[in-house]
Amino acid sequence: MAQTVERRLTAPAVARNRDPILAVLRRILPPDGLVLEVASGTGEHAAYFAAALPQLLWQPSDPDAVARASIAAHGTAARLANLLPPLDLDAAADRWPATRADAVLCINMIHIAPWAAAMGLFAGAARLLPAGGVLYLYGAFKEGGCHTAPSNEAFDADLRARNALWGVRDLEEVAALARRHGLDHAETIAMPANNRSVVFRRRAAGMDAP
Ligand SMILES: C[S@@+](CC[C@H](N)C(=O)[O-])C[C@H]1O[C@@H](n2cnc3c(N)ncnc32)[C@H](O)[C@@H]1O
Repeated sequence: MAQTVERRLTAPAVARNRDPILAVLRRILPPDGLVLEVASGTGEHAAYFAAALPQLLWQPSDPDAVARASIAAHGTAARLANLLPPLDLDAAADRWPATRADAVLCINMIHIAPWAAAMGLFAGAARLLPAGGVLYLYGAFKEGGCHTAPSNEAFDADLRARNALWGVRDLEEVAALARRHGLDHAETIAMPANNRSVVFRRRAAGMDAP
């Protein structure tokens, strides 16, 4: 449950996952350029990662107005030249308020939104990224149609009870969707608490899927 400090929301999971995620980002993100974060939520990740990776320009976003207020408040408190104000970006929309990005990040969103958001995420990332550009996902995934831990199975049941269109996604289905949009699955990294980092790379135009 997120807590409020003025307009700054905090999600306890962020303090637990930000350093393991940052260790992956240091390895897979480009040395400089623009990073578009989809579904920034409280904005804590954006402020933390922008501070840790000052050579990257960080663009947070969220379709929820309360989240955007929190992202903006964290941004103001962080006083970072490389952290931009949040965009109103719905991954499922045909048009995004961003025209390019050197990398796209999406943490803990595709299981807590309808599948249309995942479809829009890959379509949008494919439009924005250059050849070789990274789309990074973090969250719980099924592998081979099976949950990777009892805690993820319980989490999935809870998500589906809250909204029948939500649920932990199958990594192979996600990778197939990515492939159809010209994004190839590059690697999966096991993370604490049975989560996964999943890295996709934009295929060069005219190249066939491997
Ligand atoms: C569980 S929170 C994760 C927030 C943050 N990335 C984190 O890990 O703390 C899910 C976020 O997804 C956002 N979201 C839901 N549907 C979305 C969509 N269609 N496009 C973009 N973001 C969406 C919500 O507004 C919310 O901020």
